[in-house]
Formats: sequence, C-alpha cells, structure tokens
Amino acid sequence: MVYHEGILVSSNEVINSAAIGAEITRSRIRCNIYKPSDTARNLEIGSEFTYSLTDDICLFFRSALTGRNKPDQAELTEEELHSQKGFFYPKRAASVYFCRVEDLTVKEIRDEYGEAEIKKIEGNILWKEEMREAEPLDRDDALIDAMVHASRLSIADEKQREGLREKIKTILRSTGDECDDERDMINKINEYIEKW
Ligand SMILES: Cc1cc2nc3c(=O)[nH]c(=O)nc-3n(C[C@H](O)[C@H](O)[C@H](O)COP(=O)(O)O)c2cc1C
Repeated sequence: MVYHEGILVSSNEVINSAAIGAEITRSRIRCNIYKPSDTARNLEIGSEFTYSLTDDICLFFRSALTGRNKPDQAELTEEELHSQKGFFYPKRAASVYFCRVEDLTVKEIRDEYGEAEIKKIEGNILWKEEMREAEPLDRDDALIDAMVHASRLSIADEKQREGLREKIKTILRSTGDECDDERDMINKINEYIEKW
C-alpha cells in the first residue's frame, strides 16, 4: 500500500476536480471525502472516477482552492481535461488510475475543527495508464503542505483560521522561490489565505 496526493475527477451532472489523498494497492483505492463537497455528492456506489498523480502544482491549487462545494463552478475546464470511455482526467496528469466505487460508508468524526461527516470510499482500480515520465508531487512538497492547511480554512472558526494563516505563512517563508512558477504559486496561496 502506498499513500499519494492526487487529483480526483468525478463526473455526475457536473465534472468536478478535487485534490484528495488516497491509499492505493494493486487493485484498490481508498479515500476519505469530507461532506459537504461536490466530490462527496458525485461519488456513489458504481460511480466512475479517475485519480491522477501529477507534477503540476497548478492543478493542485485549482482543484483544492477553487470551486469548493460549488457544483456550478468547474475547477478545470473541459479543454483542460482529456476524456476516455466516459472518464475525465487532467491533460497534465503523469499517471492515471481509472476507478469505480465499490464500497462506501458515511462516518461521523470529530477532529480539531469539530464534528464532520466523511464518505469513506473504496474503489476498484479498473486499469492504470502512464501518460508521461514525471516525479509526482506529494505532501513533502512545502507548497502542497501549505495547500492542505489552506483547504481547512473553510471549515475552521476565526481563532483556528488565525493559527492556520500563521502556519501557512511560516511554511511559505521556508520554501525556495527560485523560479517564477514557484513565486506565482506562493503569491496565489497568500492571496487565497487573506480572503478568509
Ligand atoms: C494535497 C491535498 C490533499 C487533500 N486531501 C483531501 C482528502 O483526502 N479529503 C478531502 O475531503 N479533502 C481533501 N483536500 C481538500 C479538497 O481538495 C478541497 O476541500 C476541495 O475543494 C473539495 O472540493 P469539491 O467541493 O469540489 O469536491 C485536500 C487538499 C489538498 C491540497
């Protein structure tokens, strides 16, 4: 079993992209999806979805920090997605798992942000494709780590938000910003956290 961070694209009435963590074995994929969210609404027993690993930081930003719980707002446009046999996945994916929801349970949990409901999804991996060679991003990357904290601002109270903003700023200060892409992303995350 390996744990990844990736982009889950589900489609129902709308196509939705979200950054999601997943445990992956040879034949199975497991993830915990917070409710309410577009992803949780899209995934029912039998729903098909893709899970993509990627080195494109922008895909993580768009999927995690835009369009949250907004069914009429697509994080990635249809031009930015490939479609194959009714599945959709980002054009910038490095590898893609094509999956179907096999089992699903809803659980109440209590975490530092209070009571929450999660949908525990267990999917069958139908097949996998390598699209191009790339080193996929994961939580070891400081910008991805900052985005995980930023995605919690929406469920935190004001006091917790202050703590989260400080934590995120510290992480962002610790990152190298040698290239324009990195500087751009740091600015985008800073802009996002100031909105809360
Ligand atoms: C790297 C990363 C991993 C994440 N993992 C999860 C996860 O496992 N479960 C979850 O519910 N949200 C996770 N999130 C937050 C979601 O991406 C975010 O709430 C998203 O906007 C949900 O959108 P939706 O309403 O479009 O489904 C993660 C965010 C990041 C940046």
